[in-house]
Amino acid sequence: MSNSILAGKRGIIFGALDSNSIAWNVAEHAHAEGAKFTLTNAPVALRMGTMKELSEKCGAEVIPADVTLTEDMEQLFTKSMEVLGGKLDFVLHSVGMSLNVRKGRDYTDTNYDFYHKTMDISAISLHRMLQTAMKLDALNEKASVVTLTYIAGQRVFPDYNDMADAKAMLESITRSFGYHYGVKNKVRINAVSQSPTKTTAGSGVKGFGDFFGYADKMSPLGNASAKDCAKFCCALFSDYTQMVTMQTLYHDGGFSAMGVSPAVL
Ligand SMILES: NC(=O)c1ccc[n+]([C@@H]2O[C@H](COP(=O)([O-])OP(=O)(O)OC[C@H]3O[C@@H](n4cnc5c(N)ncnc54)[C@H](O)[C@@H]3O)[C@@H](O)[C@H]2O)c1
Repeated sequence: MSNSILAGKRGIIFGALDSNSIAWNVAEHAHAEGAKFTLTNAPVALRMGTMKELSEKCGAEVIPADVTLTEDMEQLFTKSMEVLGGKLDFVLHSVGMSLNVRKGRDYTDTNYDFYHKTMDISAISLHRMLQTAMKLDALNEKASVVTLTYIAGQRVFPDYNDMADAKAMLESITRSFGYHYGVKNKVRINAVSQSPTKTTAGSGVKGFGDFFGYADKMSPLGNASAKDCAKFCCALFSDYTQMVTMQTLYHDGGFSAMGVSPAVL
């Protein structure tokens, strides 16, 4: 179903790896809603992933960029404006990675090189992206930036490991940069706190399968899928949410408001 709510809008979508990725679903939905955008991911992910299929489906150019490199961010924003024919109206930041999680290091036995990388890729990259966009004056007035977070940034989910610290920082950057970009150019920045979702990043967390079932039972509406998330992100890119900014918005079927659920007991 499409209502063309993004007709005439230009953007960049970060983080589509395969068809399970939240970003992949956002790209498909944004395309159906009439948006034009470029797609980006780390060069290594582009070699492994299936981005060509998505690119063809959406008529979107793929521009490789590592989110930890300022030169890559500059090139991405400059080239996207060239390709799309003007400044941008929306950006999806759907990026995260922890080597401590991947290599099964416990939170209390963290490898600090990995920890720095987690922060750089999963949190500081939002700042780097926004700072680059601001310096290049790449975003139109009232543009919308959306990042993806998880409730472990607010409450303890032990196996989420150092990603919990990254999400807390990411949500803080959402508020702090949201203030500065809001005052400067009425740009809105929000973090969508999504249910557990079966993706490469999600499934890497220890005990994900059990936890997915637990969250589903705890949530009166059940877990929100990547497709549901895509619709919500597109609503946030649209003109219907122009006064929403600096928020962590729960898109989790009600999980975050629950104390206990008979379904779990
Ligand atoms: N899956 C879940 O359960 C869940 C829940 C809440 C929030 N999130 C968040 O959603 C976002 C998207 O994750 P996903 O679940 O779709 O998984 P995913 O693995 O499909 O997406 C993560 C993306 O980050 C990219 N990435 C990693 N390092 C990068 C780098 N240096 N430069 C550029 N890109 C890089 C990966 O290539 C990948 O495309 C992440 O921020 C994740 O933490 C996921």
